[in-house]
Amino acid sequence: MAILVTGGAGYIGSHTCVELQNAGYDVVVLDNLSNSSEKSLERVEALTGKKPVFYKGDILDRDILNKIFAENKIDACIHFAGLKAVGESVAKPWEYYENNIAGTLTLVDVMRQNGCKNIIFSSSATVYGNPAQIPITEECPKGQCTNPYGWTKSMLEQILSDMQKADNEWNVILLRYFNPIGAHPSGTMGENPNGIPNNLMPYITQVAVGKLPELGIFGDDYDTPDGTGVRDYIHVVDLADGHVKALKKIEENAGLCIYNLGTGVGYSVLDIVKNFEKANNIKIPYQIKPRRAGDVATCYSDATKAKEELGWTAKYGIEDMCRDSWNWQKNNPNGYDS
Ligand code: NAD
Ligand code: UD1
Repeated sequence: MAILVTGGAGYIGSHTCVELQNAGYDVVVLDNLSNSSEKSLERVEALTGKKPVFYKGDILDRDILNKIFAENKIDACIHFAGLKAVGESVAKPWEYYENNIAGTLTLVDVMRQNGCKNIIFSSSATVYGNPAQIPITEECPKGQCTNPYGWTKSMLEQILSDMQKADNEWNVILLRYFNPIGAHPSGTMGENPNGIPNNLMPYITQVAVGKLPELGIFGDDYDTPDGTGVRDYIHVVDLADGHVKALKKIEENAGLCIYNLGTGVGYSVLDIVKNFEKANNIKIPYQIKPRRAGDVATCYSDATKAKEELGWTAKYGIEDMCRDSWNWQKNNPNGYDS
């Protein structure tokens, strides 16, 4: 069974390639390398003994998509490809809607023309907006997104759900990730952000490695136990495993399914700083800064549904996430370029 992994050279995609190949799947990657390096796939090969079949190209390009379907027997697509920088999406909304939405529309059209109607889509907890309940179950209503990136996820969930309702040959699994951090325990694969990181963990690791002087903590006056924002951090290898479990659900012709992928535990920014310091014996200097626009106080999952229906739970704890993030950063201070 061959799985098309769009965005497979990226952070979550490359870790998923490892888990897929370890589970015995053949993997075909399509990635335009706009936010990744093909070297990640060499690391996949080093870990699994096999390099995924790789096509450098764009999900907006029908010709390359048709070529992939002509040259491979694709049973399902795990669709990671997309732009994901929240701030950039505010500055360049058209580029985000074109890449993420038009790209996905092109992909699913070519898929159905080629008789492949199985898709797992990378969604995000961001679709809950300011969540109506904590912990967040999948029943929680979707909310108002604060940026175009978030809207692309929310809109694509709607589009894929409508397609599945109109044609029940489609199996559509929407996976709402909470906050992916960590790296492969080997220290050979991890997150490779361009420029100054926006997200918490890559910022912390760049402070630890000496590239950035100190962490700015965005607000200490939230209604949370220590005043800093609370999130549900999940190890990227657990997240990758969630996709392998979701494929089993596709094989059962599950129709439309939505799952939260999180640990169900919330940690504050200060909890993360303290856990990182303890796990790695490194001091992280920080300064309290004003709140960041668009942030919510608290966001963590109830992940019971994924446990009951996919047999999936997160195995790695916060200490593992902090250790593996640092292990990757210190071994690869310039990401895949080092
Ligand atoms: P990433 O940027 O590392 O991976 C995305 C990959 O898609 C990159 O390799 C990029 O080169 C590729 N890509 C982008 N546009 C493309 C296009 N038009 N055609 C072909 N390839 C294209 O990001 P990631 O963190 O691995 O995220 C993967 C998916 O999960 C994304 O859809 C993202 O929005 C979603 N997601 C990520 C997070 C997170 O915190 N990392 C949280 C929730 C959801
Ligand atoms: C952010 C995005 C979300 C996206 C997710 C993964 C926003 C508003 N939300 O989630 O849409 O799906 O990333 O890409 O951008 N923090 C600091 N200092 C920093 C960085 C972060 O204090 O330098 C704090 C934040 O205020 C937050 C927590 O750390 O409380 C986590 O932030 P981050 O890693 O950016 O993730 P989210 O904001 O949850």
